[in-house]
Amino acid sequence: MTSPLPSPLAEQVETAFWHRYGERPRLFCAPGRVNLIGEHTDYNDGFVLPMAIDRSTWVAATPRADRRVELHSLNLHARAHFDLDGPAGKQSHQWSAYVEGIARVLDKWGARPKGANLVIATDIPLGAGLSSSAALEIAAGLALLSVSGHEEVDRVQLARAGQKAEHDYVGTKCGIMDQYVSAMARVDHALLIDCRSLDAKQIPMKLTDHALLILDTGVKHELATSAYNQRRAECEEGTRLLRRALPNIRALRDVTPKDLEQHEHLLPDPIRRRVRHVVHENERTLRASRALKEGNLTEVGRLMAESHQSLRDDYEVSCPELDTLVEAVTGQPGVIGSRMTGGGFGGSTITIVRKDAVESVIAKATELFAQRHQRDPRALLTTAAAGAREL
Ligand code: GLA
Repeated sequence: MTSPLPSPLAEQVETAFWHRYGERPRLFCAPGRVNLIGEHTDYNDGFVLPMAIDRSTWVAATPRADRRVELHSLNLHARAHFDLDGPAGKQSHQWSAYVEGIARVLDKWGARPKGANLVIATDIPLGAGLSSSAALEIAAGLALLSVSGHEEVDRVQLARAGQKAEHDYVGTKCGIMDQYVSAMARVDHALLIDCRSLDAKQIPMKLTDHALLILDTGVKHELATSAYNQRRAECEEGTRLLRRALPNIRALRDVTPKDLEQHEHLLPDPIRRRVRHVVHENERTLRASRALKEGNLTEVGRLMAESHQSLRDDYEVSCPELDTLVEAVTGQPGVIGSRMTGGGFGGSTITIVRKDAVESVIAKATELFAQRHQRDPRALLTTAAAGAREL
């Protein structure tokens, strides 16, 4: 085998594959993500501004003559299989459901993937709100399509297939953000995604004096999926009620802050607060992308702080552990902005901080977090990384 490979994980999946199947696989990877701003806007046809992190899921793959897909996860020391010509497995949050889901969606959509042998490993922390599941879907989907002879993979379709897999085979009614950025990200760029048109703009994000600090609470609340689906339903209800005054709106994306001011009496609580979050978060996201383009990090930081407050008080998807981390770093020397990131109810925060202040900010966050929650948060530094690719 030829080496060196660019990551120890790539080497691991390749070696494990070789031992098991005695052939040389093709190697694919897809990154996790962190969202700078634009939270719970994607399923409202709105705007998001995520980037890929420099942690990925790797898949080693070869095609098979039949339609069976064999999976082996090195992280979980687990195996699974399914047959694309056989009945689908039940909806589940099992790791293999994400792979089976995207394989079956791609099949239904006409791509007819071949059977395949897949060996999988990841260095994305699981359950940290960094989209390890989207990375798994995208890496596996890209691998299955590529070894089936589809060399020009439509990345937006791939992201849509990943989203559909979560809806139908996992049971989370997620938006498109995580899969889209994992499939499309570019090094040193954040991605401003228009979740209605599915167009995106690459926004340069090369930080020279600043770092992106992710702090993981280590918390994953059981109610995350049901509360997520409930928020989504509340947004749909808000849209329906506002249509009485604004008959042309299709989603909360179409409601301006001014519209809302005029018509918010149509909305009972908590729908009013949910809608208020989404409408203003869309504005903040567009503003933040402009500020980032102009190199105005202070403005980006201010908008991040507003976003966190709104997610905490109006959208109610934060939790005490996330609030502790944001509170601990806010106002510390060198901190530009901090907020919860991702779906919420646990997971991580994202903080932009001057490089020379990283150590002291991690120390502060750890101190307050340990005092209140009797454990340490996990710190992770990242840069804006590349999207899915074959090695
Ligand atoms: C999860 C979902 C995304 C998005 C975020 C909240 O990560 O998978 O589609 O809705 O929550 O912004």
